[in-house]
Parts: sequence; C-alpha cells; structure tokens
Amino acid sequence: MQTSMLNTTALMEITARPPVVFARGDGSYLWDSNGKRYLDFVQGWAVNCLGHAPPAIAAALAEQAATLITPSPAYFNAPSLKLADALVSHTCFDRVFFTNTGAEAVEGPIKLARRFGEFHKDGAFEIITFDGGFHGRTLATMSASGKAAFEPLFEPKVPGFPKAQLNDISSVERLIGPKTIAVMLEPIQGEAGVYPATLAFLKELRALTSSHSLLLIVDEIQTGIGRTGKLFDYENAAIEPDIMAIGKGIGGGVPLGALLATEVVSCFRHGDQGGTYNGNPLMCAAGNAVIDAVANPAFLANVMALSQFLTVQLSKLAVKHGLGALRGRGLLLALDLGQDIAPQIVEAALQKGLLINAPRTDSLRFMPALNITEQEIIEGIQILDDVLAGLSDL
Ligand SMILES: Cc1ncc(COP(=O)(O)O)c(C=O)c1O
Repeated sequence: MQTSMLNTTALMEITARPPVVFARGDGSYLWDSNGKRYLDFVQGWAVNCLGHAPPAIAAALAEQAATLITPSPAYFNAPSLKLADALVSHTCFDRVFFTNTGAEAVEGPIKLARRFGEFHKDGAFEIITFDGGFHGRTLATMSASGKAAFEPLFEPKVPGFPKAQLNDISSVERLIGPKTIAVMLEPIQGEAGVYPATLAFLKELRALTSSHSLLLIVDEIQTGIGRTGKLFDYENAAIEPDIMAIGKGIGGGVPLGALLATEVVSCFRHGDQGGTYNGNPLMCAAGNAVIDAVANPAFLANVMALSQFLTVQLSKLAVKHGLGALRGRGLLLALDLGQDIAPQIVEAALQKGLLINAPRTDSLRFMPALNITEQEIIEGIQILDDVLAGLSDL
C-alpha cells in the first residue's frame, strides 16, 4: 500500500490498519501526512494521558536526552530513583521495578509470585486469572489472559493460570488449591470491552486472598495513572493489593511500565529479573513529568468532572439514537451500541476526523487524554451524532 508516497510494505503485517499515516500531534488532535486533522479519543490506547506532544514531557525528554540517555542498568540513575520514590510515596507499595512495556510489567509479577510461592508456600505457582482478561502478548501474559481468540494460539501455553469469572467470588474460591499462590485481575477489563470489576468484588477478592494467604495482583496498565479519577483504580475500592503492574499512562506516550510490590513480596534474588533498557533515565524522565502532572489532586478532580461531562453527553446520544448502556469508570468508558455496528462507526468517524476504538463489534471505547476539554468532548459527540444519523447510508 502507498500512503502519501510512504511505502508500508516493508512492515510486517500484524493487523489491519486504515490507509492513514500520522505525522504530528498536539493535545487532543492528530494530523495525517496530508494535513487532515483528527480529534483523538484513542490516544495511543489510553497511553497519552496528557495528550499528544505535551510540553512537559517534550521538555523532560529533551533535557534528559542532552544530559544522559542511559548508563546501563548495572548502575543507578537519578530519574529512575526519583520516579521510584514518587510511585512508592503515592501507593501502598514499597519497591518498584521498571519495564519497557505493559506485558513485561505483568510478566514480572508472574515471576515474582512464583518466586514467593517457592520461598513461602511449598512451590505454589498457580495464579487465578479471569475469563475476558487481557494481560499482554508475551507467551506467559497471553496464557494468563482469558481472551477466547488467544486460546488456540502458540500451544502449548505457559501452565498455571486457571480462569475464574469476573464479579463471581465463588468462581474464584472454587479454584483455590494447594498450588495457588495469587489472584490477578484488571480492575476494569479494558480490551474485553470495558467491563469493570465492581468495587464490592474487589473488596471480596482482597478479603478472600488474605484469608488464604494468597497474593492479590492488580494489572492497572489501562486503569492506572489517573484514568479512573484516582491515581490507581484499587484506591476506588479502598483495598491494598500486594503487587501492581502499570504501563501505558506512566510514560505518557513513551515505552515505560513498572511492577510495584510490598516489601515482604519483593523477593527477587540477583539475576531473577532485569533488562538492558529497564529504568533508563530517558523514559523515567518522561515518567516523572507525568507523575508531577497527574498526581496533583486538582488534576484528578478534573478527570472526574470530565468523566461526568462525557457520561452526560454519551447518555444523551444513546437516548437520541436508541443505543445501549454505558460501562466503565473515569475516562475509561464504553458505550453499548445494541448491535454489531461498531466497526462501521469507527470507519465513518475516521472519515469525519474522529479517532475512536471498538474493543467489540457492539461497543465503542472512549479513552481520551485526561486533560481533554469540554469543548473537545462536544466536538467528538457531534461527529458521532452525525455518523449515527448517517448510519443507514453506511
Ligand atoms: C490491562 C492490560 N495489561 C497489559 C497490557 C499489555 O501492555 P503492552 O501492550 O504495553 O505490552 C495491556 C495493553 O493493552 C492492557 O490493557
């Protein structure tokens, strides 16, 4: 395919992409190589929490790039120490290990839980995960995922991930046995279509895991860094997990993730965990810029205000066009369309200059920048209104 004189055939084909090449971004907007402007409700899949090319991240990266890009993970560097301190001070965790991707940030807790089981629970290694869950695309994280499309792929999978059902505590209880070491879940199943664990279920899960001396691992790669109006969604349930994986928003658009754990669980021995780029100063400088902005209580309060505004706008749209219910928390929302028309809507919205994502054929997912404005929300809703009005012509 030729797109504006750029050749795309040298890239490995791993997914269907529209014939658009993005050239520039600013806040909630992207411009393609032909100069067409798009309002972006996808934001790199809930990655760009401060929008495209935010000045704070651009300045932090430029300054760090001119100072020290990487000294090797065999040595300490100041930006990673600062970011680890900030994450520890804003959470119930004591220790941090930085990663480059979300999948790697989940792979780490799997290893850490297995190590903990080896040291403290007679080699217990099973981690109960959930149908519908998504934890990444390494072999272990695909095995931990409960995504039906992954089931036939890359057999044999990594063993030890029995699946329970979200919001059904007895389905978890039934799977607990002598080999169980942990339960792991996304507080909101994002890729499955934005299906939240109820806050009551999260509390029940904490009580159940504690009473069986099991670790509770939360995968906050999509829900973390202010996405649900708290810095992390586990705070909404007023629980304290043992391990957390983060990614996406923490880098504000650059590859950065982390696993966080309590002191007692942080039992890696030298050589168990590491990686060439892990905790490099350049990415951690971006992470520090993100935390400085997002951990501000006024910023988080504004996320909730924007969530309420978007919820009202989407509810009106749903009534007007006879659509279904809204799901999610904060600025991670999905609108049920009641029929399998999401791919057509995504395509028509793209033509009209709105980027939106369909995690299922019957739902649209909204994950805008956390600093989107009400005016930009109105603009996106108007485009969707136009698309829905023209649906019979699709
Ligand atoms: C909940 C969750 N876990 C893990 C991942 C994997 O992150 P990455 O794509 O950065 O490897 C994702 C990505 O969408 C995710 O949403």
